[in-house]
Parts: sequence; structure tokens; C-alpha cells
Amino acid sequence: MKNVINTGYALTLFALATVAAPTYAAKEKVYVSLGADVVKRLNQDRAIAFEHTPMSALARGDTAFATIAVDAQDIDKLSTFVHQKFGRCPGFFRHESAQQALNFSQNQMQKSAQVDYSIDNSATVYALLNEVGAEQILDTVNSLSSYHTRYYNSLTGADASQWILDKWQSIAAARADISVEFREHASWRQPSVIATIPGTIYPDEIVVIGGHLDSINVGNQQSGRAPGADDNASGIAVVTQTLDAIVTSNYRPERTVMLMGYAAEEVGLRGSQVIAQTFKEADKNVVGVAQFDMTGFHGEPSNDIVLVNDYTSAAQNTFMTQLMDAYLPDLNYAFAPCGYACSDHASWSSYGYNASFPFEAPFGKHNQLIHTTDDLAVDPDHAVKFLRLSVVYMAELAKGSTSDTLSFGALGFNQSEVSVDEGLPLTLTIARTGGKDGEVSIDYTTVDGDAVAGSNYTAVSGTLTWSDQDNSSKSITINTGDVSQNKAFSVVLSNPQGGVTLGSGDSVTVTIANKSVDNPAPDHPVEPVRASGGGALSLSCLALLLLGAVRRRW
Ligand code: BES
Ligand code: ZN
Repeated sequence: MKNVINTGYALTLFALATVAAPTYAAKEKVYVSLGADVVKRLNQDRAIAFEHTPMSALARGDTAFATIAVDAQDIDKLSTFVHQKFGRCPGFFRHESAQQALNFSQNQMQKSAQVDYSIDNSATVYALLNEVGAEQILDTVNSLSSYHTRYYNSLTGADASQWILDKWQSIAAARADISVEFREHASWRQPSVIATIPGTIYPDEIVVIGGHLDSINVGNQQSGRAPGADDNASGIAVVTQTLDAIVTSNYRPERTVMLMGYAAEEVGLRGSQVIAQTFKEADKNVVGVAQFDMTGFHGEPSNDIVLVNDYTSAAQNTFMTQLMDAYLPDLNYAFAPCGYACSDHASWSSYGYNASFPFEAPFGKHNQLIHTTDDLAVDPDHAVKFLRLSVVYMAELAKGSTSDTLSFGALGFNQSEVSVDEGLPLTLTIARTGGKDGEVSIDYTTVDGDAVAGSNYTAVSGTLTWSDQDNSSKSITINTGDVSQNKAFSVVLSNPQGGVTLGSGDSVTVTIANKSVDNPAPDHPVEPVRASGGGALSLSCLALLLLGAVRRRW
């Protein structure tokens, strides 16, 4: 239950602010941003008046946020209040300084720059999609969850950052243009990790894909076991395999791509907040941010991806849906609010950048084991959906190309018109020509002409799939029935997937030839050829019948 998780989390900020690790003493004042609804309630409800904090708002943002200064000794009271009244955990966003808090509220008001959300880079998309699979996701998840904890200020938490740095550097070793670096944080041990793939044409325009690398055990933050497999080794696995796909496909983005593993998310989005703030102060043009946090638990079978629609960019979220419709049509998606600044996307949004957060399940159906010793397993087949979205998003927002010379080929019928005698089954062949790379598929369906499904033929529809390196021809069979005169229908191909194109033979017109005595064809006064049962007359059988007819004419 989320509430259980949240209750535990309420303790996090308390410990952070009052009994934080000895090296990093708590400050007297803690600046937090809360939903304006919470501040309003705080001001109304005298019963929860803080003992140490004068309740004056430091700054007020738009209707979504307000920022207040809280005495460190009151932070647990605030957590409890927000949790009890609003069910959030803790539902506020902690800043490192008064200046940062002010920047935060000011940036809430800023409108983000217009971004061109075109979808026109399919060759690159499919080349990248061709490189991703579920196989290596577990490798990263298992390696990261084997650290006792990745708590932001722990030694093992810092070791885990080192593992990610090493892993990303080894993946990128073949590419001199890619750099992988720590982003150290002054106030705690665990560094963030950032990989940069410089843009070939617009290096100053940045696409960020990231997730948090830390974990937490809410019951025992300092020393409890916190494997954090789903939360969020699963997101780091998505980012790691995105880098792997970049290198294996030799993808060169036009815009700079930065892959990020954020430190210290579980203690108030602290790593991402510092990074987003630094980017804003340096006036960096981040055109879009994708956050992957929890990708490995398929909590609702009918839903694959939930696009979080608070603290995110509506325009970029729409772009995400268009990308899924175009390239990942098998994925079911929905929208839902998290209700509070629940992950690192909110850090970017708070500085005016366009962020999206594709999440594993509807809230409440998400993994309930997070923040406990039991967050040990993920479903790689679920996580891979997020990996696919990650590379599609990257290829269409950062543009650019791969040097892969993949040929996916074209699919089509090898004839545009065909005739079949009434009652006979018809077999149509679809060929894959001009390439055999990647798994591809195509949909087919019958469409009535003057021949009507159910009366003159049996309707068929479905999907034909070719695996990677398969360029065999595939066939579909359609049963025909009686017609009183020649009648036609069509079979139409559509929705090519996996980079394959529709060849010229994208449809075939089938004429069902009338052969019955009531309307004999002048040159062939033969006995009617009637379908028996399923109409499974073979060609050789038909030949014999025709031969018999010809003999009789002699
Ligand atoms: N992965 C969670 C966020 C989450 C949990 C989203 C459950 C949706 C459902 C994240 O790591 C986390 O725990 N965030 C904190 C808030 C943050 C401001 C410290 C949380 O939700 O308590
Ligand atoms: Zn998380």
C-alpha cells in the first residue's frame, strides 16, 4: 500500500533533518516547496502550528506550489501533517538554500521554450529498436541490488555510483565522443553519474534521459538492506541499455543526449535538483527530459505505461503518446497524477524544463515492495517497454542517424489481381523483398467489393510477422463460396512495423469466378465446381475436373 510506504517515508526527512549522518550536520532552516493546497491548510489549521517555525511563506509560486522555510526541528511534524491530511509521502520538495527555494518558485512561473515535436526519423528509430531487448536488463538490476543499500550518504551507495560509472564507461569505450563522469555533491557521499553524447549539429540543445540510482529502506535508512531492484535499478537498467543501443547502432544524435543516474532522490530529489538548478543557472537549453523510475512491475495487465501528468509537460506527454502510437502500437498507456513531486522529473519541471515520467502501473497497482528489504525482483519484459520508449523518444527528439546499414525491406503481394473459381480456397503470398533485418510485421484484412464477406467468402484479418533475417514468403488462405456472377473483394495490407515498408503490392483484388450452370461461361459449359465443406479442393483435383470436361467435349 502506498500509504504504508509513505508513512515510512515521513520518517526519512525527519532523520535527514535532525539526525543526519555525522559528517553532514542538519541546517537550522529547511526550505521546502509544497502544494499550495497544503500551505493553505497549514495556515487554516491552528492545531498543527509549528513550535519553531513562524508560518510566513518565503515565496509563493503559481497555484501548484508554495515555498516555506521550516525549522529543522519541525520537519517531522510537517511530514506527518501532509501524510495524514493529504496522503502524500512526504509531499514536499526540499531545497538546499533560501536562494534555491526562491529560484524554484520563480521558475515555476516560467513557460518552457517551444519544442518541435516532429516524428520523421523512423530509420534511426528502427535501427535503435533493433538493438534493444530484455536480456541485459537483469544484469544491471542484479548488480545494483546486490549492494547492501544505495542510500545516498552510505559507502555502498557511493560504490553503486562507481559501478554505474564503470559500466557506462565500458559500454562507451568504443566511442571517443562519449564521456561518462561523476557529478559530485558537496553535501553527501554518493555522486550522480552523467554520460554525454554530443550533438553533431545542435550541441547546445540537450535531451536528458535519466533515473535515480539511490535506494532507501524506510524502516532503517542508515543501515537497513535496501536492494531497490524496481525502485530504481530498473530505471538505471533502462538508461544503461539506452547507452548500449546508442553504441551498438553507432547512433550520432544531432542534439546532445545526456544520460543521468541521479543521486539522493529518495531523500528529497536532492541530486536531480542540484543538477537541474546548475543547468538553469548556466542557461542550458534542455529541450526535453524523460524520467525512468520504476519500470519493472506490471501491476495492471491491461496497462503498460502510465504517463504521469502532474509536474510534467503536457506537450511532451502528448508527444510521448504520438511516439507510442507510431512506433510501439502494442503498448497500452494511460495518464495519471502522482499527486506530489514524486520523482526527479519534478526537479526539471520546477526549473521550467519539459519533463515526462512514464511509470510502471496505475498508482496503487504499482510495486508495493519498494523501500523495503523485499524489493528484489523485476520483470524484464515489462522494463523493456520503457527501454523501447526511451530510444524512440531519443531518436525523435535528438534526431540524428545511425551508421547501421540495416535493410528492413518491403512487404507486398506479388500480384495485384487474382481470380479464383467459386467455392475454392485461395492462397495469397506476401513476400519480403529488399531486406531482412529486424523483426517486422504487417496487418492484413479482407475488404468487401461486390463480393460480401459471410455470403461469398469468409473474411480474414490478422498480423504476419517475420523474425530478424527471415525473408521467406508467407501466405494467407481465404475460403470462397458460391457467387451467381463474378464478384470481387480485396485483401489489403496495412500498419507495417519494425522499419519495413509497404511495397507496391499493398492490396490485391480477388475475383470469385462464377462457374455454376445457371450462368455458364460461353467457352466452358462444364459441370459446376462446387466447394465441399471447407472448399478444400486441391489444384490437381481442379485440373482433373477440367480435363474431364475437355475430354467430354471431344
Ligand atoms: N519511485 C518513487 C516514487 C513513486 C513511488 C512514484 C510510488 C509512484 C508510486 C520515488 O523513488 C520515491 O520514493 N519518491 C518519494 C518522494 C521524494 C520527494 C522523496 C516518495 O514517493 O516518497
Ligand atoms: Zn524511485
